[in-house]
Amino acid sequence: MAAAASPFCFTLLLLLLLLSTAATSSNKTISLSPTPSPTSSPTPTTPTPTPTPTTPSSSSPSTLDPKQLRALQSLNIPTAKDPCQSKNNATLCDSSKPFRHLLSLSLTNCSPNDVALSFTALKSLSSLHSLSFLNCPISPIRFPPELSSSLRSFTCIHSLKTLTGFWLSHFHNLTDLTVSATPVNASGLYVILGNMKKLNSITISHANLTGYITKHLNLNLTHIDLSGNKLRGKIPNSITLLEDLDFLNLSSNALVGEIPTSFGDLISLRNLSLASNSLSGSIPASMSAIPGLVHIDLSSNQLNGTIPSFISEMKSLKYLNLASNDFHGVMPFNGSFIKRLAVFKVGGNSNLCYNHSVLSSKLKLGIAPCDKHGLPVSPPASKADSSADDNSNDSDYDENNGDDSSGKSEHHHGPSKVVLGVSIGLSSIVFLIVFLVLLSKWCG
Ligand SMILES: *[C@@H]1O[C@H](CO)[C@@H](O)[C@H](O)[C@H]1NC(C)=O
Ligand SMILES: *[C@@H]1O[C@H](CO)[C@@H](O)[C@H](O)[C@H]1NC(C)=O
Ligand SMILES: *[C@@H]1O[C@H](CO)[C@@H](O)[C@H](O)[C@H]1NC(C)=O
Ligand SMILES: *[C@@H]1O[C@H](CO)[C@@H](O)[C@H](O)[C@H]1NC(C)=O
Ligand SMILES: *[C@@H]1O[C@H](CO)[C@@H](O)[C@H](O)[C@H]1NC(C)=O
Ligand SMILES: *[C@@H]1O[C@H](CO)[C@@H](O)[C@H](O)[C@H]1NC(C)=O
Ligand SMILES: *[C@@H]1O[C@H](CO)[C@@H](O)[C@H](O)[C@H]1NC(C)=O
Ligand SMILES: *[C@@H]1O[C@H](CO)[C@@H](O)[C@H](O)[C@H]1NC(C)=O
Ligand SMILES: *[C@@H]1O[C@H](CO)[C@@H](O)[C@H](O)[C@H]1NC(C)=O
Ligand SMILES: *[C@@H]1O[C@H](CO)[C@@H](O)[C@H](O)[C@H]1NC(C)=O
Repeated sequence: MAAAASPFCFTLLLLLLLLSTAATSSNKTISLSPTPSPTSSPTPTTPTPTPTPTTPSSSSPSTLDPKQLRALQSLNIPTAKDPCQSKNNATLCDSSKPFRHLLSLSLTNCSPNDVALSFTALKSLSSLHSLSFLNCPISPIRFPPELSSSLRSFTCIHSLKTLTGFWLSHFHNLTDLTVSATPVNASGLYVILGNMKKLNSITISHANLTGYITKHLNLNLTHIDLSGNKLRGKIPNSITLLEDLDFLNLSSNALVGEIPTSFGDLISLRNLSLASNSLSGSIPASMSAIPGLVHIDLSSNQLNGTIPSFISEMKSLKYLNLASNDFHGVMPFNGSFIKRLAVFKVGGNSNLCYNHSVLSSKLKLGIAPCDKHGLPVSPPASKADSSADDNSNDSDYDENNGDDSSGKSEHHHGPSKVVLGVSIGLSSIVFLIVFLVLLSKWCG
């Protein structure tokens, strides 16, 4: 009937239409914001050997020793340009005259078809302080003694097919030894380390290394990573003599017995993992004396006793994983302590419980609340607490600040934000439509 709406109604309608599109589009940006933007570019992961103290000057006019040049060519390393200025730090030279000499050499991603080691070539490389093989599954050969004793740093990651302890033991001047993802056949660690009197850092990981951890460790060690092997026996007490040790990873072996009572003598320790062994007994009280611990992983052992409250006083701690053990009693942590950590896991300890007047059940710690005697109450048949009984499944431990690899709690927040955004958007559209219909009726 109303053939023409009044100009006032028309502009009002137009304005509302504009507003509604603005509202929906702004809702869209809100609901999209939680999706991560691919900003971080992939960083090159090739570990390059650290240059030795004698830092070379890169602008030396002299050229590489001809014998070493031929050796590089025999190893299929491009030498067309200055071999002392190679891409990716594959080489590093000194600045001696008339000829420069190689200090550091890194062979990366080579195949047995392209590269074969030769004794003569290696002999002429006896100026090397650092030698690395990364993804080079070529056959190892006997090294000339001159080269073996000149090396300070040797790295072999997923390379050289298989190594023996005897072969490695010839590098007696090493300060850094890194072997990973390469099988090492040795009757024990002592075979490898017996002659290495200057070692500061040792990594032999994922190497199927068997035998015991030697009692005679170099006192100057700062870094020990023997994770992912088949080491058995106890952790030797003598390990606690290593005052400068800052990193200890013995995870995923077959170690038994108790953590040495004098463990707290490791006063420089920052990162510790003894995870996935068969260790028993309790957390030694002496550990309270280690001031700088940032990372403690004791998960998947048979450790028992109560969780010592001194852990909550560790000011530097960022990572605490005590999951899948036999700890019992009231867990001594409050909410502000747990919030401070990047990773916190205690699930899979069926006799451990939390004080519900101190901690909220919303934290989903994977353990039951305590009764008044400090024993876990039998969990109500709710989803949140069912994981308390489940010792086997790691994904059930829901830590507070989910920035761990599982990212479970992040996953939990993500969808709820999107749902919220969508429902706000939809309801405002519905509201606008109803309003417009009413307005048009009123105008008409
Ligand atoms: C090469 O080594 C130098 C000095 O150690 C370092 O600054 C540079 O980032 C390295 N380059 C590459 C590509 O690894
Ligand atoms: C290696 O160490 C021995 C002593 O163990 C020493 O005599 C020799 O000079 C060292 N070699 C090099 C190249 O540093
Ligand atoms: C260690 O042994 C296991 C089985 O015995 C094998 O699957 C694995 O590839 C070995 N690791 C290495 C680095 O050789
Ligand atoms: C390790 O070395 C021993 C002695 O040299 C040898 O008998 C054994 O077969 C080797 N094991 C492997 C897996 O190569
Ligand atoms: C070990 O460390 C001590 C003191 O920190 C030092 O005096 C000694 O020279 C070091 N020994 C070796 C072999 O590096
Ligand atoms: C210890 O080693 C394991 C396996 O190599 C690794 O997953 C873990 O992150 C390491 N822990 C620390 C504290 O570096
Ligand atoms: C803890 O384990 C040790 C060694 O298995 C055992 O001797 C001790 O009785 C246990 N203590 C408790 C409180 O369960
Ligand atoms: C030590 O642990 C902290 C905290 O988990 C971690 O950020 C750091 O990378 C670790 N350091 C080493 C050398 O693995
Ligand atoms: C939480 O525990 C720490 C010691 O672990 C304590 O200093 C702090 O006051 C406690 N916070 C609350 C809110 O109780
Ligand atoms: C739980 O905490 C409250 C308040 O700190 C305390 O009074 C109570 O004794 C605790 N309960 C247990 C079982 O430790």
